[in-house]
Amino acid sequence: MNNSGVVIRGERVVLRPFRPEELDQWHSARMASADDRTQFPVGPPDPERLCERVERSGELRHGTLDLAVDVDGRLIGEIGTYAEPGREMRPGLFFLSIALFRPQDRGRGLGTDAVRVLCDWLFRSAGAERIESSTAISNPAMRGVFEKLGFGFEGVKSRWDVDWAHYAVSREQWNVDPS
Ligand SMILES: CC(C)(COP(=O)(O)OP(=O)(O)OC[C@H]1O[C@@H](n2cnc3c(N)ncnc32)[C@H](O)[C@@H]1OP(=O)(O)O)[C@@H](O)C(=O)NCCC(=O)NCCS
Repeated sequence: MNNSGVVIRGERVVLRPFRPEELDQWHSARMASADDRTQFPVGPPDPERLCERVERSGELRHGTLDLAVDVDGRLIGEIGTYAEPGREMRPGLFFLSIALFRPQDRGRGLGTDAVRVLCDWLFRSAGAERIESSTAISNPAMRGVFEKLGFGFEGVKSRWDVDWAHYAVSREQWNVDPS
């Protein structure tokens, strides 16, 4: 059991480190959508790499952070930040990603709650100046989350045979309360 690392509480979700015993569940959830190029554009997840990610889950290192999305003690998804492939990430810039594993947990506001609290934590506690993310233009739920939270739409990029809608929010736009 991993007892250390970042824990962030939202209104309904808790973002916390993955537990070692959750590796299989995380891997199965990823395998279920491994053929979806809009979620895994550079190929299916590698189990060994995922194991390392569980071990260092909850630690922010070089702009990379993996957290479990938990509701009432139940693992429902993953959220985190990582270096966008092929891009050098400068300090203060974060690239965010989220997936709720089961369709039953989607469309209930949990994704919005998770992204809101992670952004808040990144701006308040991790020196974020700007948070970016992309999603397939055909993903209305993810685009809805960004739009509800005040991310700006920055245009469409084609990569890996997918059209990606790019979004970003700055510290000034987020209105971080200094308290
Ligand atoms: C994308 C994802 C994280 C969004 O989280 P969510 O909890 O489902 O989204 P929310 O319920 O917070 O919805 C936010 C807004 O998006 C819109 N929305 C949500 N689901 C939608 C859908 N199926 N169709 C159209 N719009 C939708 C709505 O405007 C909603 O706001 P409202 O409920 O106030 O009207 C989640 O659906 C998911 O994990 N999907 C599968 C993996 C994925 O696509 N990850 C992103 C890859 S970049």
